[in-house]
Amino acid sequence: MYKRGTKSVCFLLLALLWDSGYVITMERGDTAAHVNLTAFHRLPNRCNVDGFNKDWFKVDKYCVKYFSKPLNFTDAENSCKKTVPGGHLVSVHNAGANNDLLSIVKKMNPKNLRMWLGGYEFFQSGKFLWTDGSFWDYAVWTPGEPINLYSSLEECVEMNWKGAGKWNDDSCFNKKGYICAFKRKGIIDE
Ligand SMILES: *[C@@H]1O[C@H](CO)[C@@H](O)[C@H](O)[C@H]1NC(C)=O
Ligand SMILES: *[C@@H]1O[C@H](CO)[C@@H](O)[C@H](O)[C@H]1NC(C)=O
Repeated sequence: MYKRGTKSVCFLLLALLWDSGYVITMERGDTAAHVNLTAFHRLPNRCNVDGFNKDWFKVDKYCVKYFSKPLNFTDAENSCKKTVPGGHLVSVHNAGANNDLLSIVKKMNPKNLRMWLGGYEFFQSGKFLWTDGSFWDYAVWTPGEPINLYSSLEECVEMNWKGAGKWNDDSCFNKKGYICAFKRKGIIDE
């Protein structure tokens, strides 16, 4: 009874740490030794578009790929356009997709989770847009963010600055990893 209780507390703690992106420091700890960490890395399915099965994953209506080489926001967006026809930095429209993107970066670059999404503030208007032109219909800001609305200081959207999966507005000049996406048009799901 006592043992079982301890175990589930450890499990909960581990799950919380994992969620905050700090589990990597725990991996060699005694507490974590009995838990199969691989089970937490639930990557989305591979992209089902010919030629994009490797390193591309199915997320929402898109196929996406993580790039670890840090670039500023405009260079990252341009790199996505060059990588694939119809490519852009990824846009996010629901919690499932947001979690999928987090799983991907946790797997691909666990030590540096900060990355660009395709969101940017439209000319200091306080309104955000996606580089792929889709509707801004979802957001998971870090509490207190975005803080630099209406100024030009920070106007591009990153994920995982503080709090795994949460968004922050940061200077577009900063260089980070990023996720590219293209729409799986006309492809029947599943
Ligand atoms: C850990 O979990 C993964 C995914 O569920 C599984 O493929 C793998 O075989 C497991 N490893 C061990 C050592 O149990
Ligand atoms: C990004 O870097 C390029 C050079 O690689 C530069 O021309 C461009 O102005 C930069 N843009 C931003 C928003 O930092």
